Amino acid sequence: MNRFKFVIVMIVALSMLLSACQAPAAAPVAEAPAAEEAPAAEEAPAAEEAPAEAVAKTYADLTVCYPQLGAESDWRTANTASFKETAEQLGVNLIFSDAQQKQENQISAMRACIQQGVDVIALPPVVEDGWDAVLTEAQDEGIPVIIVDRSVSADKSLYAAHIGSDMVLEGQKAADEMNKLLPEGGKIIELSGTTGSGAAVGRAEGFRMNLNDNIEIIDSQTGNFTTAEGKPVMEAFLKKYAGEIDGAFIHNDNMAIGAVEAMKAAGLEPGDIKVISVDGTRGGFQLMIDNWVQADVECNPLLGPQVMEMALTLVNGGTVDPETLTNETVYYPENAAELLPSRQY
Ligand code: AHR
Repeated sequence: MNRFKFVIVMIVALSMLLSACQAPAAAPVAEAPAAEEAPAAEEAPAAEEAPAEAVAKTYADLTVCYPQLGAESDWRTANTASFKETAEQLGVNLIFSDAQQKQENQISAMRACIQQGVDVIALPPVVEDGWDAVLTEAQDEGIPVIIVDRSVSADKSLYAAHIGSDMVLEGQKAADEMNKLLPEGGKIIELSGTTGSGAAVGRAEGFRMNLNDNIEIIDSQTGNFTTAEGKPVMEAFLKKYAGEIDGAFIHNDNMAIGAVEAMKAAGLEPGDIKVISVDGTRGGFQLMIDNWVQADVECNPLLGPQVMEMALTLVNGGTVDPETLTNETVYYPENAAELLPSRQY
């Protein structure tokens, strides 16, 4: 092979070798799907991913604990009936007990309800103080407590709400009536409710706030809201202050019934002592018809429907008014006979 042919052969061989080693042509770039073509996350069907909606409880699902404080008065009897009748009508499971005016019994009943895992506790506290521990226990178990009727001194963060009467306002109304009855002033006695109860504390406070300076409270004793205890207290007042008493502020109708029995026994006539009572029960109306009581400040015991409605709202996670005060009036002898037949308690 001459030199020229050799060079040609080498060039051809080299070019073949080079083309064999050359990287393959770049593959066509895979087209990224256009952004708008990608399925948007929010467009994906999400039904199975969404949290299941909580089913609202009804009255029939509800268990309410009512550790009633006692059966000391007609007011209390009406209050108990209001809770039992409302529960029956609505289909609420009511766990009811009677503490016989003893706070320790009410606390034991509450603890039993907490252990049972009730939905709501409605507590009518016999006295204001001493509830912090058991209210904390209920709260720790996630059981809301509604304070019913009388108030408690515990911090408001320990219970969901209070439904009841404005006891201070009741006392103020009673004083306004006494001021009208004794415009020239005079000496009066006070037959007070259960010592340390929100009702007795509030009424005593409100009464003193509004009472005219020329009226002197010469004595104050408790009759524990009962007829049986009110009567001997009034007997003792009548003996001790014979002929001196112009008026009496009596914290409930049942004690007024006992006090009137004492006044009759002492030979007094209706109106000799001006009496202001509280509650507006049928018994109080009868005392007004007979002119022994000159004004009766209403305290409404029919709280069952409101409390059950609030209990249902609470178990369904709703918000409730922390303080619901009952709208109340004052009754007088003038129309007592006309109103008595329509009284519910
Ligand atoms: O707490 C309400 C009071 O308690 C009522 O005035 C009384 O009659 C009852 O015993």
